[in-house]
Amino acid sequence: MSKKNIVILAIESSCDDTSAAIIENGRVLSNKTANQTVHQAYGGVIPELASRQHLIHIIPVIDVALKDANKKLSDVTAIAFTRGPGLLGSLIVGVSVAKALALSLDIPLVEVHHMQAHVLAHFAKLPFPAFPFLCLTVSGGHTQIVKVNDYTDMEILGSTIDDAAGEAFDKTGKMLGLDYPAGPIIDQWAQKGRHIFKFPEPQVSPLDFSFSGLKTSILYFLQKEMAKDPQFIQEHLADICCSVQTTIVDILLKKISIASQITGIKHIGLAGGVSANSALRLAFEQHGLQHGWTTYIPDFEFCTDNAGMIGIAGYYQYLKGVFVDQSISPSPRMEM
Ligand code: KG4
Ligand code: ZN
Repeated sequence: MSKKNIVILAIESSCDDTSAAIIENGRVLSNKTANQTVHQAYGGVIPELASRQHLIHIIPVIDVALKDANKKLSDVTAIAFTRGPGLLGSLIVGVSVAKALALSLDIPLVEVHHMQAHVLAHFAKLPFPAFPFLCLTVSGGHTQIVKVNDYTDMEILGSTIDDAAGEAFDKTGKMLGLDYPAGPIIDQWAQKGRHIFKFPEPQVSPLDFSFSGLKTSILYFLQKEMAKDPQFIQEHLADICCSVQTTIVDILLKKISIASQITGIKHIGLAGGVSANSALRLAFEQHGLQHGWTTYIPDFEFCTDNAGMIGIAGYYQYLKGVFVDQSISPSPRMEM
């Protein structure tokens, strides 16, 4: 390993957030994200609008990340970027800028898998999890239980067979007339509500998830109640949010508990955008205390999509000497 300072400029553009970060010797110096508000009214991300917003945001975001870290482009020793999975048009923007920077600065280029980076968000601050640990990665596009053997060696033990947990939040929000992304809004409403409505738990194999059936039962439930009282949603929003959120949190905790029992691993992390959910964070920590787990949850800024986690993942690839060349292209369905 070279003794020189390793300064990584990391770029994330897989979905609807444009983010850039500077990581020095594995430590995040700056982590800047431009969120896109154009999707709010549509109930989901519109890919073409996302790509156009990335184009507008990417250079200013990189500039701010450099300034915030007190670095110049000439200080950067490698560029890390999200290669996939994600939206093709969104990924193209980040990948193209990463390649152009690496070419013009004549420095190495490191590809990063977005979901591995969510897991490695646990290495943004001490204490670091001990290997092997389990990670429940819950985002807008994925829901996974991952056995993390090493920074770059991860096995997926279970995943969703249909919708992701974040999608369950966002699609429920759409039915309730809430803006996208609805996860944080449901989280807020749920804090004022009670778990009085019950929804059936999905029947799938022990480590896998399914949220599509839950979505359908919420839809039928709302249709039935609205037929009786057209104001049902307005009058019961907090209780509906609390009931849906509790159901999702219960499913997630049940599955990660089974994974812990099967593997005997008690070092367990929570990652991905949905790990910003206040009820999930609390229930996860309480569950951990009851079951003798050592739990890890990243700070909020490292839960939702951010380039800091891409830079951390890029740093460990860099230490292993794993680089890519200018022939690299985005991989929307990149395998872990
Ligand atoms: O990891 P992420 O930023 O992007 C993807 O890789 O998908 O996750 C975004 C997801 C969205 O579905 C959003 O609604 C959800 O994370 N989310 C939340 C909360 N904050 C973000 N879900 C529930 N409660 C929250 N507080
Ligand atoms: Zn993500």
